[in-house]
Amino acid sequence: MPRHIRLAGLPSSLLWITMLAVSGSFGQSPAPLVQNVINRTTVSLDGDWHYIVDPHEEGTARSFGSRNFVEYDFNTSPSLHVPGDWNFQRPELQWYEGTVWYQRSFDYHPRTDTRALLYFGAANYRARVWLNEKPLCEHEGGFTPFNCEATSLLQDGANVLIVAVNDTRHSDDIPSLRPDWFNYGGLTRDVMLVEVPREFIEQYSIQLDRGSSHRISGWIRAPNPSTSQKVTIRIPELKLGTEAMADKYGLYWFTIDAPKLELWSPEKPKLYRVEISTPTDRISEEIGFRTIETRGTDILLNGRPIFLRGIDLHEEPFYRSGRAHGEDDARTLLGWAKELGCNFVRLAHYPHDESMIRVADRLGLLVWSEIPVYQGVDFKSRQTLDKATRQLTEMIARDRNHAAIILWSVSNETPKSAERNAFLHQLITTARTLDPTRLITTATNQTTTAEAHKKVFDDPIIADLDVFGVNEYIGWYEGVPADLDITTWSTPYEKPMIVSEFGGDAKYGLHGAASQRWTEEYQEDIYRHQIAALRKIPFLRGTSPWILKDFRSPHRQLPGIQDGYNRKGLISESGERKRAFYVLQQFYHELAAQASETRKP
Ligand code: GCU
Repeated sequence: MPRHIRLAGLPSSLLWITMLAVSGSFGQSPAPLVQNVINRTTVSLDGDWHYIVDPHEEGTARSFGSRNFVEYDFNTSPSLHVPGDWNFQRPELQWYEGTVWYQRSFDYHPRTDTRALLYFGAANYRARVWLNEKPLCEHEGGFTPFNCEATSLLQDGANVLIVAVNDTRHSDDIPSLRPDWFNYGGLTRDVMLVEVPREFIEQYSIQLDRGSSHRISGWIRAPNPSTSQKVTIRIPELKLGTEAMADKYGLYWFTIDAPKLELWSPEKPKLYRVEISTPTDRISEEIGFRTIETRGTDILLNGRPIFLRGIDLHEEPFYRSGRAHGEDDARTLLGWAKELGCNFVRLAHYPHDESMIRVADRLGLLVWSEIPVYQGVDFKSRQTLDKATRQLTEMIARDRNHAAIILWSVSNETPKSAERNAFLHQLITTARTLDPTRLITTATNQTTTAEAHKKVFDDPIIADLDVFGVNEYIGWYEGVPADLDITTWSTPYEKPMIVSEFGGDAKYGLHGAASQRWTEEYQEDIYRHQIAALRKIPFLRGTSPWILKDFRSPHRQLPGIQDGYNRKGLISESGERKRAFYVLQQFYHELAAQASETRKP
């Protein structure tokens, strides 16, 4: 587990390198996270992998990693497809939680002056990796990427990769024991070898300075910093370029003035090709430039107030069971959010696949990205805080250059306590240090109702936030929809609020009186009352109802209605739109029309 070393005086952006680097004992720690792998030379290791289910952890005792065992044989074992969860590839594994050993062989021919990093988009929850029978690295956290330095262990020709993935839930994990979503286990995202030069561009941050519509600045981390090493940043379409200057900590800093820059926005998601090069390496990325800030209770995108017309979604595809991954799933899910009239999505409750963010960049959808510090977490545990900090650091390291992301969320519905406040305060401070360009938020359901129907948003953590999210379920877990007509909302904080969750369950096709729970009419009624009530909140600057699509959850077992699904979706798992879908769509189309009116010169 990470140990904390006093690193006084180091510039903030170096902080994350130290956090990622210091780690466990198995093999070597994951190497600093390589960014933008899609624009790197890669060797895909996706496909069918052999697997062995290991409920009693025999593999560790019999060192499956080094393959000297008798009663098991990877080569004659069945296979699982990667990327993908194991639960919905094999009926006997649907409810399995424990260890599964993955194995695949591949041919590889190392190239001179080239390093090879083994990259995992995600492995839920714990992963231990062996390459050619040698322990390589381990990682914990099911929704963020990691990569391991594999150059020295790779052979010219045949190679064998073994990964033990365990998704058992523990009280001091992130998330903890009882998340209201399905615990999909396995190598759930792409696996690949990323080839980079011996000295390569590891990380970089490129964005508009806060409050500026034309000054682009940032830093680049490239090893062996020396003032003599020429590091350049170019934006060919704008015929702009500059040379970055090294500081003594190994970072290159730069500023580019771009008077003709077209800003990225949901209406015009303009991306520019940006090229970074050093004497030994070059990388390019399509980046959008926009500013995001708050002023009083307003959220300003590119200096103008914006209302976030959003929807929450889990990382589950339509039409098939399992974990979503890749561009196709992202395009379907975000395409439906666009159809709803959204300019914003809250990706719940964990970092989704990077392809989701890339598609949001292209479609012009603003994004709330969150780490799964969810409900009952062990706030007293230093280890748990380290785990949360690592996931936060990896999330920001992967996605820091995606214009779509405007909000980092450090938690969801955590109960107030001194330990909780201190825990979240630490995460908020870390997020601000790692990325001073974005807004920090969290979703809270900790409101005070001193008098009936008088809601006060006074959770002390709001003081630390730029924007606060409130989850409220009036009409479902609390009272009836009509209570919304008499509910008042207030807060002691002069900050923008997003209602980050509201809604109710409805089984698609179940019809009845608006007062009959589980029917489409009841859900529709909740939405009508919610929207009417929310319009009256003077500091409301966004909504993201719970949720785009019905999703799997072990908590939801009502026969004939839930059958293993949380039914608060506006769309069923097979793509059928419920009545409430159109109520929200109409509200969002109205807001969009108003917004485009105000944008007119
Ligand atoms: C909570 C929580 C969600 C959950 C939802 C529900 O607010 O944040 O993860 O699924 O309520 O109960 O449906």
